[in-house]
Amino acid sequence: MRSVIIVYSATGNSLKVAKAIKDGEIHFVEELLSGSYAIPEDTERLGIIFPVNCFGIPYPIQRFISECLARRDNSALGYIYAVATYAGIESSVMADLETELTGIGCALSYGASVRLPDAYLPLQKKAVGEIEALAALNKVQSRIEKIVEEIAREEISIPCRAPFRRLRRRISRIATRPERNRRLAVGEGCTGCGICTRVCPMDNIAIENGKAAAGDSCISCFACYHRCPENAISYPGAKGQYKGFVDTEELFKR
Ligand SMILES: Cc1cc2nc3c(=O)[nH]c(=O)nc-3n(C[C@H](O)[C@H](O)[C@H](O)COP(=O)(O)O)c2cc1C
Ligand code: SF4
Ligand code: SF4
Repeated sequence: MRSVIIVYSATGNSLKVAKAIKDGEIHFVEELLSGSYAIPEDTERLGIIFPVNCFGIPYPIQRFISECLARRDNSALGYIYAVATYAGIESSVMADLETELTGIGCALSYGASVRLPDAYLPLQKKAVGEIEALAALNKVQSRIEKIVEEIAREEISIPCRAPFRRLRRRISRIATRPERNRRLAVGEGCTGCGICTRVCPMDNIAIENGKAAAGDSCISCFACYHRCPENAISYPGAKGQYKGFVDTEELFKR
């Protein structure tokens, strides 16, 4: 039986969970959006792993649903499961995902969430350090193991629908839209190494005259800030970098 996991992970938390599931090949959502990978026709189990963004589904996963999943024949997909990582307020993200999937004729069979550290600089100005991060991971280890077991035995767990979901989904869609982030700045320390261009999920950074330069398609994921080896990207008031649970190279999408 072919299983595929599609993951969107800016800072590595969701990738860590996807790797724990060990259910077939893992592919980044960016590979699907760029056309470098397509879910094979005979795929029967599909996992979708992503972080909660602005109380809802992150922009790359929204695009994956409407541009990739909606356009393929999904009749072979017998079990679709999803796991969201979040930092404090998971909202009704699984109910939202179920609504989105139902809208394109797919059924979500299982949804769960895992709380992991925050790397969102407007709320988490002092980056979560290694010890704190490991403590947070230890706290949810048994939850992750339970989710992995439930997915392995194809448990059905349909998330509850929350009130005001249409309004909330609309607000969340607006909040997750790409735009220029004028508060992120590339400093003198930039060596033009290009690592930020490879971790950016939006392909929004180019190297110009030996320095990184961001464009107008930022989703404020802060992967570039946290993964710059020179700590050369600044954000007002932000200190330190969140290194999470995976190596920077594992986050390279291209
Ligand atoms: C733009 C953005 C919006 C976020 N919004 C929320 C949110 O609404 N609720 C929440 O609990 N966490 C929120 N977070 C935190 C992430 O969901 C959390 O840190 C997640 O584990 C990150 O996963 P990743 O490392 O795979 O990207 C947000 C993070 C970012 C970057
Ligand atoms: S990762 Fe840092 S040093 Fe490398 S190009 Fe980007 S901003 Fe410059
Ligand atoms: S420019 Fe930086 S913060 Fe914006 S989407 Fe790319 S990696 Fe994320």
